[in-house]
Amino acid sequence: MVHNLDPVVNSFRPKKWITTPSLGQSCVPRVASSKLGADMGETVVITILVENTVHARGLLAEHGLSFHLQVGQRSLLFDTGQSDLFLHNALKLRLSLAGAEAIVLSHGHNDHTGGLKAAHQAAPQARLFLHRAALAQKFVGDPDGTTRSIGMDEASAETIQKAAKAVVRTRKPTEVLDGIFVTGEIPRQNTFEDTGGPFFLDAACAQPDPLLDDQALFFDTPDGLVVLLGCGHAGVVNTLDYVQRLTDGRPIHSILGGLHLRAASPERMEKTVAAFRRWDIQQFAPGHCTGLLTLAELWTAFPGRCSPCAVGTSWVFPR
Ligand SMILES: [Fe+2]
Ligand SMILES: [Fe+2]
Repeated sequence: MVHNLDPVVNSFRPKKWITTPSLGQSCVPRVASSKLGADMGETVVITILVENTVHARGLLAEHGLSFHLQVGQRSLLFDTGQSDLFLHNALKLRLSLAGAEAIVLSHGHNDHTGGLKAAHQAAPQARLFLHRAALAQKFVGDPDGTTRSIGMDEASAETIQKAAKAVVRTRKPTEVLDGIFVTGEIPRQNTFEDTGGPFFLDAACAQPDPLLDDQALFFDTPDGLVVLLGCGHAGVVNTLDYVQRLTDGRPIHSILGGLHLRAASPERMEKTVAAFRRWDIQQFAPGHCTGLLTLAELWTAFPGRCSPCAVGTSWVFPR
C-alpha cells in the first residue's frame, strides 16, 4: 500500500466561500451562492456507469459504484467501480471519458476505487480528488469470524502516487469543477448513525475504521440540491445535514447512490425516514450498498419519488 504522498494540495480558495454574517461564529465554510448556481442554463447529466444491478441489454453490472457527470461541456467521474468494467459501459452508452477533468473518490473501499488505474489511463489529465484516509488499509469482519481486506488495491494506490501533482486532498469542502462540490470530511453529529458495518483499519479487527474519507458530491439546481453518495458511511443524515449547512439551508431535491443501511436498526431507519420527510426530498435513487429491505422500505415510504439506481440510468438536472 502506498502512503507517501505530497503534503495536502487543495484547490480550495477562501474567496469561493462565504460565511453568513448572522452566523459568523460558525466554523463551517459555506458555498457562495454565486458559485452554487454556476452557469445558469447549463444542465448536469448524471449517468450510472457501475452499480450492482443492470436492466439493459449490453451493459454489465458489478458490486460497486461509478457515476459519470456531464456538466455542460465538461465532465467528471465520481468513483470508478471495482474494476475497469466502467469502460465497457461507457463505450456502450457512448460516453467519452477522454475529456474528464476530475475523478473523485467517495472513499477508499475497493468497490469504488478498483477502476482508478483504468480511469486515469482514459483521462490522464484528470485531477484526482480524495481524502487522505482513503489510502489507509481497510478491512471488514465477516460473520464467520474471518477478515477481508477491502481497501484500495495496489494498482489504484500506485496510480495516485504517480499522479501526485494532480492529487487534490479533500479534507475540507472543495469545488471540483463549475459548481460541483465534494464535501470532504463529514462531521458525525448525531448518535443514531454509524459507518454501517464492522469496518476496521487492521486485519486483527482491533481498530475500528471511522471512514473519515467518506465524502459526498453535491450541486445546486433551481429546485434544490442534488447529492450523490458513494457508500454513505458517514451516515446519510449526517451527510445531508452537512451539505445543508454548507449551502445556507438550500432544500434537498435529490439523493442518489449508496446509503449503506442494510444493517440499520429499526430506530435508525425510523429517524432516517423522518429526516427525509422533514427535508421533503423530492427524488431518491438509492442503490449499491443500501440493502434490499431498506430499498423496499424507502420505495414504500416515498411512493412516486423513488427511481432505480442501475447501470445506464441517467438524470438531467437544470441549473
Ligand atoms: Fe460500496
Ligand atoms: Fe464502502
